[in-house]
Amino acid sequence: MKKFFLAILLFLVPCSLFLIGCGGVSQDTTPAPDKTSASTEKPASDKKILVAYFSRTGEEYNVGFIKKGNTEVVAEMIAQRTDANLFKIIPERTYPEEYQACTEVAKTEIESNARPALAVDIESIAQYDTIFIGYPIWWGSLPRIVLTFLDSNDFSGKKIVPFCTHGGSGLSSTEREIAQACPNAEVLPGLAIVGKTAHNDKPATEKGVDAWLKTLGY
Ligand SMILES: Cc1cc2nc3c(=O)[nH]c(=O)nc-3n(C[C@H](O)[C@H](O)[C@H](O)COP(=O)(O)O)c2cc1C
Repeated sequence: MKKFFLAILLFLVPCSLFLIGCGGVSQDTTPAPDKTSASTEKPASDKKILVAYFSRTGEEYNVGFIKKGNTEVVAEMIAQRTDANLFKIIPERTYPEEYQACTEVAKTEIESNARPALAVDIESIAQYDTIFIGYPIWWGSLPRIVLTFLDSNDFSGKKIVPFCTHGGSGLSSTEREIAQACPNAEVLPGLAIVGKTAHNDKPATEKGVDAWLKTLGY
């Protein structure tokens, strides 16, 4: 019993520590993402690799107010190196730009195991053999919008390669969550990059991405 409480404590303390504090933030107004330019899909004959990712802009943990999401930075690097197509997972209802407000919405979604609607889904996943899935860690977990994307497409027989950016939790339980959502896919070992590193340190981010891609045979 003691071990059980210790395990709960070890999970909750790091999550809540950084969810509580987020200083040094400047405000700005960024327009909602352009839904029409969410995808750079190319003809089926051209491509077999997809990088699909969710990434939020606005006030973010440890980086202030950002106009390009941390995960988006990594997604673009991976797509460029693997010559993949990019697809941005965009929710129909934009998440709050304020960090604290966003944590509350995310918490409610996780607690209710919600599947928030996508603004637009990918036309066809069938043409891809390998799909990199990128996301920020939210409350030690996958943002529910990513689960909506996983639930609305058929990943049977495909390779899924997770990557995340985070504030200290690493990949947490997300590889397992993806495997549960896509039981007929093969989920390969994922990559976790600290959000602040993705935002501020391009060489370190590239080094991490390159080393990981190499282990996957790219
Ligand atoms: C709603 C919310 C919940 C978060 N929960 C966690 C968490 O549990 N663990 C963690 O390491 N980082 C957490 N973070 C920090 C983000 O994972 C991190 O800043 C990430 O790089 C943001 O990526 P993005 O800019 O692509 O959205 C959270 C951020 C938000 C907005």
